[in-house]
Amino acid sequence: MSKDCIQSARGMYDILPENYGYWRKLKRVFSEVCEIAGFGYIETPAVENKDLFIRSVGKKSEIVNKELFGVTRLSEDKEKIISNVLRPEGTAGIVRSYIENGMQSQSQPVKLYYQGSFWRYERPQAGRFRQFYQLGMEIIGDDNSESDAYIIMLAYQFLQKLGLSDKMIIEINTIGDSKDRPVIIKSLKNYFKPFLAQLPEDAKNQYEENILRILDSKDPMVQKLLEGAPQIMDMLSVDSHKRFKKTLEALDELEIEYILNPHLVRGFDYYTHIVFEIRDSADENRQASIGGGGRYNSLVKELGGPDIGAIGCAFGAERIIEKLKSFKITPDIITQPKVYLIQIGEKAKKKCLNIVYRLNQFNIPIAPILGERDSLRSQLKFVDKQNAPIAVIIGQKEALEGTAIIRNMKDGVQETVDFDELILKLQDSLDIVCS
Ligand code: HAM
Repeated sequence: MSKDCIQSARGMYDILPENYGYWRKLKRVFSEVCEIAGFGYIETPAVENKDLFIRSVGKKSEIVNKELFGVTRLSEDKEKIISNVLRPEGTAGIVRSYIENGMQSQSQPVKLYYQGSFWRYERPQAGRFRQFYQLGMEIIGDDNSESDAYIIMLAYQFLQKLGLSDKMIIEINTIGDSKDRPVIIKSLKNYFKPFLAQLPEDAKNQYEENILRILDSKDPMVQKLLEGAPQIMDMLSVDSHKRFKKTLEALDELEIEYILNPHLVRGFDYYTHIVFEIRDSADENRQASIGGGGRYNSLVKELGGPDIGAIGCAFGAERIIEKLKSFKITPDIITQPKVYLIQIGEKAKKKCLNIVYRLNQFNIPIAPILGERDSLRSQLKFVDKQNAPIAVIIGQKEALEGTAIIRNMKDGVQETVDFDELILKLQDSLDIVCS
């Protein structure tokens, strides 16, 4: 590659045809799981108003502070900079859309699923991109623990259908609701206060800004301190405790395995009650979760909608595809031409597209050979390389006589047929080679 070639932006990549079978599988299986469960597909814009994420994900969150990609342009009078952002996650935009499109007047809860690209300005590394793809689902308008267990059940079913469920583990925690939160914050602050001077800079900031995030610290010194820290579970109200227990009992009933991780907190301010993450059970590094989610009971109201509960989760496509590959799970087979039309000479070339067009109308998976390949040899070599089982050959003689040669690429056996018979004969040949 020449030095002058422009490369993709840092942390971004192309989805190439050779990988598309994995992408197709992921999107297909996720759509099937969601649609069977009555979720409607929603697609919100990639660009949203920055305030949406300030009010939902949180003004002081890493994502809003450090990771947003701005989309900026000058207003027509060139006086004002209009600033929007590329969405860093899907939940906020979906809640915005729920409110904006009056979905509260539909029968509740509203169940929505989505697939699309998201952007976070992170330092790119293995499994961490600046543009990545999520598959997500949200249940908006229900505050029962049944929905909590249902979302986890669907996430599990998705993994099961991909052949990954026995290789992944679901980590679960509860972070209480807005009534529990002041008690939790106060008690954690009291515990960490005597150690404040010794805390690393990150943890000091977390102490001030969002002390719950300290629970998630990877710093060995903080982790040691956490061993003696008060547990969220002990600070919950009776109701919060009960609903968490109910969700866990439902999962036990479903025989879905999970582990309780009292230090699991997530990077968005909107979560209440249950939070969860899914990762490879052999991978201790929690940075590499393949999916995560939780309940967000204040968000709809926070964004100007009714006071209703909601829960959802999202999977990271790139990380799941890595798992599919490492566990040697087969991708979807992508439809390919089973027949190629070889044309030799001007007369045959002229007829070529017409024949392909007609045969395609009868669902014969045939494609022309494009490019500078004139000889029979080079065209046969091409068909061979594409692994197509059949070639139709039209030379000068066939073009004049209104015939075509059907060649079985495996054994080289050829048959000359009239154009009129071509459809039926090809259908027969395809039945034989594809059976
Ligand atoms: P999240 O945990 O930030 O949650 O993202 C969900 C998944 O997206 C992660 O588990 C990971 O697989 C993938 N992911 C996130 N960032 C990156 C990245 N930079 N590169 C590659 N993959 C990444 C959410 O986004 C919430 N909106 C989920 C949710 C839905 N909660 C409630 N409803």
